[in-house]
Amino acid sequence: MSKRIAILTGGGDCPGLNAVIRGVVKAATGRGWEVIGIEDGFDGFLHPEKCRPLGIEEVRGILPRGGTILGTTNRGNPFSFPIMREGKLETVDVSDEVISRIDHLGLAGLVVVGGDGSLKIALELMRRGVPIVGVPKTIDNDLLETDVTFGYNTAVETATDALDKLHSTAESHHRVMVLEVMGRYAGWIALESGMAGGADVILIPEIPYDIEKVYAAITARCKRGRRFSVVVVAEGALPKGGGRVVKEAAGGRSVVERLGGVGEAFSNELKGFLEMDIRVTVLGHLQRGGSPSTFDRCLGSRFGVKAVELIETGAFGQMACLKGRHITSVAIEDAVRSLNLIDPAGELVRHAEALGIMLGR
Ligand code: F6P
Repeated sequence: MSKRIAILTGGGDCPGLNAVIRGVVKAATGRGWEVIGIEDGFDGFLHPEKCRPLGIEEVRGILPRGGTILGTTNRGNPFSFPIMREGKLETVDVSDEVISRIDHLGLAGLVVVGGDGSLKIALELMRRGVPIVGVPKTIDNDLLETDVTFGYNTAVETATDALDKLHSTAESHHRVMVLEVMGRYAGWIALESGMAGGADVILIPEIPYDIEKVYAAITARCKRGRRFSVVVVAEGALPKGGGRVVKEAAGGRSVVERLGGVGEAFSNELKGFLEMDIRVTVLGHLQRGGSPSTFDRCLGSRFGVKAVELIETGAFGQMACLKGRHITSVAIEDAVRSLNLIDPAGELVRHAEALGIMLGR
C-alpha cells in the first residue's frame, strides 16, 4: 500500500547524514511510498515551505557529501522553542502546532535522525501519538544501545589525521603539541584517535586529570630522550576537583552551554611546571564536516533502509542500531536513558594504558 513518510535531521550535523537520507528515499520509493523532507529539524514543521517532496532526483549524488541536504539546528525543541523577546532568550511550547502540522501531512511514519537531544524530543512526540522511528547520529558516539553511531568513524579519522600532522612538527621542534577535539561528556574521539595517532597523553571527561602526573609523564619521556609529546584533550575534559571549560553559558544565544578552550587552559596549567614549548590546536568543527568515510556511508545507508523497514512493520518508537555486524533495532527510550560513556575501568582504557598512554591519572 502506498504511504507517505517524512524524514528530518536534528542537532549538530555529522558526516553520513546524506547517506541516511538517500537510504530512506531509495528504500521508500522502491516500495512506491512518497517521502517528504523536513528542513531544519523539527522547526521545519512550523513552515509549510520547509516540507518538500524528496525523490530519487533530489538524492542523486549526495552520498559522498558532508552535512545534510535538509539542514539542521540544535535550537529546535518544539517543547521548549527559543524566541527572542525584548533582547532576551525565552522558550515557548509550540508542540501542539508541530503535531497538528504532522497530522495535516498525513504521515504514516516520521524518521528522526538525531542524537540524544533530538531522540528525546522524538520520544515526547511519540507519546503524543506521532509515529516515529529513530536513527542514531553523533560524532561524539555517546548514544547507548548501538555499537557505534554514524559520523563517529569519520570524525576519528579527521582527528587521527591531525595527530599524524602534529607529530612531525612536535618532533622537529621538541615541543608539546596539544590537540583539542570534540566530546562534551564522552571521550571516544579523543581516546580512539589518540590511540590511532600515537598520542602520549589523552585526557577524557570520564577521567579527571592530575596535572602533576601529566607533567611527570612528559618529563619522564624527555629523560628517555623523547623530547616531544603529543597530547589529545577532549573538550569536556576537566582537572581533578575542577570543572569543564565553558565558552558560552546556556541561556544566551545558545540553548545548551558551549564548551571549548580546555586545550588552552590545560596548556597554561602545564606551563607552570614545564619549560618546554607548548602549542595548542583546536580541531573544532572540522570534525563535523567533510566527506563521510566508507564505514559511515555504509552504516548511514543501512540505517536509512532499516528505518523504512521499521515503519513498514509498524515498529514505532524503535531506533535502528548496529550490534556486531547486524543492523537491528532497540527502543528509543532505552537509547536515551543515559549517555554512552567510556568506562574508566574498561577494556579500551586498559589497552590504552598498556600501550604506555598516560590518561591523566
Ligand atoms: O555533535 C556534538 C558536538 O560535536 C559536541 O561535541 C560539541 O560540543 C557540539 O557538537 C558543538 O556544537 P555546535 O558548535 O554546533 O553548537
